[in-house]
Amino acid sequence: MSEAAPMLKVRDLNAWYGESHILHGVDFDVSEGEVVTLLGRNGAGKTTTLKSIIGLVTRRTGSILYRGTEMAQRRPDAIARAGIALCPEERGIFASLSVAENLTLPPVIAPGGLDIATLYTLFPNLKERARSQGTRLSGGEQQMLAIARILRTGARLLMLDEPTEGLAPVIVQQIGRTIREIKARGFTVLLVEQNFRFAATVADRHYVVENGRVVDMIHNAELAANMTKLHEYLGV
Ligand SMILES: Nc1ncnc2c1ncn2[C@@H]1O[C@H](COP(=O)(O)OP(=O)(O)O)[C@@H](O)[C@H]1O
Ligand SMILES: [Mg+2]
Repeated sequence: MSEAAPMLKVRDLNAWYGESHILHGVDFDVSEGEVVTLLGRNGAGKTTTLKSIIGLVTRRTGSILYRGTEMAQRRPDAIARAGIALCPEERGIFASLSVAENLTLPPVIAPGGLDIATLYTLFPNLKERARSQGTRLSGGEQQMLAIARILRTGARLLMLDEPTEGLAPVIVQQIGRTIREIKARGFTVLLVEQNFRFAATVADRHYVVENGRVVDMIHNAELAANMTKLHEYLGV
């Protein structure tokens, strides 16, 4: 790995929902161009970590350095404009809008995003369904749309929360190809996954989250050698 400062450097991140203290000092880095996962059991704090980075928790402390700038005191809109995007687990597709309308809804925040023609090349299904209503899409198509519309905005760090959840194996493979393509185009991805078999097909490194902390880091090349440990962490 290069000596360059990481794109995202999270240190001693603590987060609360109301009075509930959920994250207890999360530390990790993501370098530009990497695909990095947060793995962990249900309730470990993976989603909360993503939400804390973008500012969607009641309160957070610690440091979130993005390209050298501190984000921990900023509001969600300012963090989004800096180039960090969250693709939430529930995907957030507007049911009453068409695919094309959903695609162009988020504002462009910076140059460097993909144009509609490129997105339709990357996601041919979305092109076919451009005029369909959001509600008429399959789960896989909704996930593709949720990813595609972020790629248009110029965001450079994409945080994807369990993009494969509930999808059929063939669609999961398609999402995997999409993530590898995004990486090839220079985007950086922070991916939350429970499915480490899938994570292994796309990621450079994995952080293990347990009880609101990062407890381990495993390079993807070392994943096979760490299977026993990983099974224990994930309880699978
Ligand atoms: N909106 C909320 N209010 C209060 N507690 C929450 C809320 N969302 C999640 N939690 C709690 O925070 C903990 C971490 O949840 P979460 O980050 O969603 O876990 P993961 O994504 O790893 O499954 C869990 O104990 C969960 O019950
Ligand atoms: Mg979650």
